[in-house]
Amino acid sequence: MIYADYNGSSPLLPEVSEYLTKRIHSHLFANPNAIHSMGQKINMGIEKCREMISQVVGCHPDQIIFNSGSSEGIANIFHSILNLKDQTKKKIIISPIEHAAVMNAALYYKEEWAYELIFTPITEDGVIDTKKVEELILKNQTELAMICIMSANNESGVIQPIDKIVPLAQKFNIPFFSDTTQTIGKHAFHFEKSGVDYAVVSSHKLGALVGAGFIIAKNPVTIKSLVFGGGQERGLRGGTQNYLGIETMAIALKIFSERTSQLLQLKLARENFEQEIKKLCPEVVIFGEKADRLAGTTLLSFPGIHGQAVQIELESHDIFATTSAACSDNQPETSKVLLSMGVPDDIGRGVIRLSLSFSQGQKEYSSLAHALKSAYTKLSKIKSY
Ligand SMILES: Cc1ncc(COP(=O)(O)O)c(C=O)c1O
Repeated sequence: MIYADYNGSSPLLPEVSEYLTKRIHSHLFANPNAIHSMGQKINMGIEKCREMISQVVGCHPDQIIFNSGSSEGIANIFHSILNLKDQTKKKIIISPIEHAAVMNAALYYKEEWAYELIFTPITEDGVIDTKKVEELILKNQTELAMICIMSANNESGVIQPIDKIVPLAQKFNIPFFSDTTQTIGKHAFHFEKSGVDYAVVSSHKLGALVGAGFIIAKNPVTIKSLVFGGGQERGLRGGTQNYLGIETMAIALKIFSERTSQLLQLKLARENFEQEIKKLCPEVVIFGEKADRLAGTTLLSFPGIHGQAVQIELESHDIFATTSAACSDNQPETSKVLLSMGVPDDIGRGVIRLSLSFSQGQKEYSSLAHALKSAYTKLSKIKSY
């Protein structure tokens, strides 16, 4: 079996499973905010995790606010940054390739609070056009409430050159939020060096238990609580902390930080795999081919062959991939990400996303190439559209 949907969600890392099994048998379950010793033990564990995580992501422990994951973090960041009373700053620069969790938050503020969304142009390789974004910032600087550009795209894996934009945002004091859900734990990222004001993480993308995550905020006092609860996380996020999720996140991120060298091997294996697929089918389209991408992500399309047909074929080889991002899997149309890259429908419908992790490599790519070859040979005889 090959799991090839790591951008959707990651299975538990073996080290995390091992930890969890022992952890459950420890019978240490209590309210981390209670004053009894069991609660305090768990609370100390949470603070140790905050410290461990801060070292991996390059921030101060106090800049981490634990929550339920990226969707919550994103909603919280919009809620915190946008000052609904300030009528002078009603514009948001946003990339059109943001995940639905970001796009729907932005659309909410557009529809309910009259914010204007200014979309950044995207090149055909799926990268934000930094020159044009700079022009947009210069033109609208006094009216900008925030800039919102993801660090890596979940569908194409394309890494966005946010480092080119951040200095200008800083110069004009414009809050910069980057959705780092696909980057942290998968690609080198250092919060302080990145210069962004806000970042988010979801535990299940890293090989930890689903249901936890965190915001990193340069200035945590700017976070306005979205979930009031009982004042947990220094009053910034109420609700009893998901301490098991947090513990597994700390382990998963530590493992990632010890294995970053494997990313290069994964990237090389992915590049060889893509070359092999191009030999098999020269008309195959690999999205963001020339761009810097997450080491294990390939988004490709065999023109004329439906992505879902390929996905089913792969599954018959015990390979689990998706046609696109999970949220748009049920929509047999070209995704918004691909549309903004100028991809026509006949290619957009053929999309299949293969996303692997640093614990995989050459072996998995060989099996993927073999299975794709067999799928293509079969399906190209009966083109679906
Ligand atoms: C880039 C990006 N942002 C945000 C999210 C939302 O994460 P979650 O569903 O864990 O809240 C995802 C999940 O697919 C994602 O890929």
